[in-house]
Amino acid sequence: MAKSRKVVVIGAGPAGYVCAIRLAQLGQQVTVVEKDALGGTCLNVGCIPSKAMIAAGSLMDKIGKASALGLTVEGMSLDVEKLVSWKASVVAKLTGGVGILLKNHGCEVVYGAATIVDKNTVSVTGKDGKQTIQCDDIVIATGSVPLAIPGFEFGESVWSSTEALAPKALPKRLLVIGGGYIGLELGMMYRKLGSEVTVVEATAGALPGQDRDCVKVIERSMKKMKIDFIANAFAKGYEAKKKGLEVRIEVEGKSRVIECDQILCTVGRKPFSEGLGLDKVGLSTEKPGFIPVDDQMRTKVPNIYCIGDIAGQPMLAHKGSKEGLVAAAVIAGQNERYDVRCVPAVIFTAPEMASVGMLEDEAKSKGIEVVTGQFPFAASGRAMSLMETDGFVKIVADAKTDEVLGVHMVGPEVTELVAEAALAIEMGATTEDLARTIHAHPTLPEAMMEAAEAVHRMAVHIYQKPE
Ligand code: NAI
Repeated sequence: MAKSRKVVVIGAGPAGYVCAIRLAQLGQQVTVVEKDALGGTCLNVGCIPSKAMIAAGSLMDKIGKASALGLTVEGMSLDVEKLVSWKASVVAKLTGGVGILLKNHGCEVVYGAATIVDKNTVSVTGKDGKQTIQCDDIVIATGSVPLAIPGFEFGESVWSSTEALAPKALPKRLLVIGGGYIGLELGMMYRKLGSEVTVVEATAGALPGQDRDCVKVIERSMKKMKIDFIANAFAKGYEAKKKGLEVRIEVEGKSRVIECDQILCTVGRKPFSEGLGLDKVGLSTEKPGFIPVDDQMRTKVPNIYCIGDIAGQPMLAHKGSKEGLVAAAVIAGQNERYDVRCVPAVIFTAPEMASVGMLEDEAKSKGIEVVTGQFPFAASGRAMSLMETDGFVKIVADAKTDEVLGVHMVGPEVTELVAEAALAIEMGATTEDLARTIHAHPTLPEAMMEAAEAVHRMAVHIYQKPE
């Protein structure tokens, strides 16, 4: 067995802590440095708390709609303080679990801000002073922070996602700047909890870069929920007035004012490397702050690795975790890499959206002859029984080889269904493989099987005119 290496992992988010545990499993000596809390953005102020709050919003929404089933609930009310404290308990359980896992695997955790002194030395400044750690390898996993825009510095009136996940009270009127992942997830959550919500988005539609047919379903849903979604709109500045905040926006060159009580700015996140001392080892970032890496997560300094949000798009927790596993394996002497086509994306809107692999246009632009199949949840018995029939599963396949190239879906529980699609792409499955797989009835994944059948105009539960 190769000699054990001493590795310092900087940052204990889903990239860093996963990397640390895998390094320990592979027999390396690991020190994790964390300046804040174990679990990083994902566990503390991102994925987990937002999903907990979104679950509460969805439950409230469902209860509100239950009268169609003959269930009438009277006197439903929301205790924001209790909701936030329940969310905090979920977070505490998970971050506590990360601490126990690191300890059980023999990883040392040092709290403080790390600075790279040279390629084998990291200095850590914590509340108990400064210490220096010598190591064979360094893994940078410092994540990202919310991006602010001029005129909307974060503070009491302007929330980032962090503050939006710990409200003291429900804002009556919320203005969301940015109609991307966070803006729509949190905007819809606040709407379900009872706020009036307006979203201003700079581009022509919500969720830039996602399948446009899926996005249309989300945009229709916003209309039904009475969320005012304003496209081609730039937020320019705001003023506090007696009645609340007046936000100036520019829509297609024309000025408009929107009144609200709270602003939530979700225009993206920027990679975080402040104070890391990259220059000490000849490393630098590339716009908008990513550290370039090869496909084994190595930076141009051979014993320094970089994983997670700081290593490039997409800034997703599971992509960071995968990169952590790859870096750990490579440090331990294995020849590991991952297939970027297989990184799924999940968006907890209402309905949910998820995708993996290539978009139809992307495949075409690569010169691939493409064929698609689509199956609507309106034709799914399970979706009907859940009262969630909006949306569909769309499969993009190679017309020549039948290989599944991409799967894009919007509808009930699709953030769970995408796992099957990711497996299909990872294994190089064909639509025939998916169609031949027996899917239990009555379940939502039947929509995947039928979409695969639809690629060949053979879906049983929708009528497809023969070509
Ligand atoms: P985003 O990149 O998803 O969306 C930002 C949006 O703001 C874009 O639609 C952009 O066109 C718009 N925008 C930018 N400047 C603007 C301006 N001045 N006025 C109006 N609109 C403007 O970024 P977001 O939502 O902040 O999320 C950051 C990252 O966090 C995402 O890229 C995603 O990777 C990750 N995330 C993942 C989630 C998940 O996996 N479910 C959930 C939430 C976030």
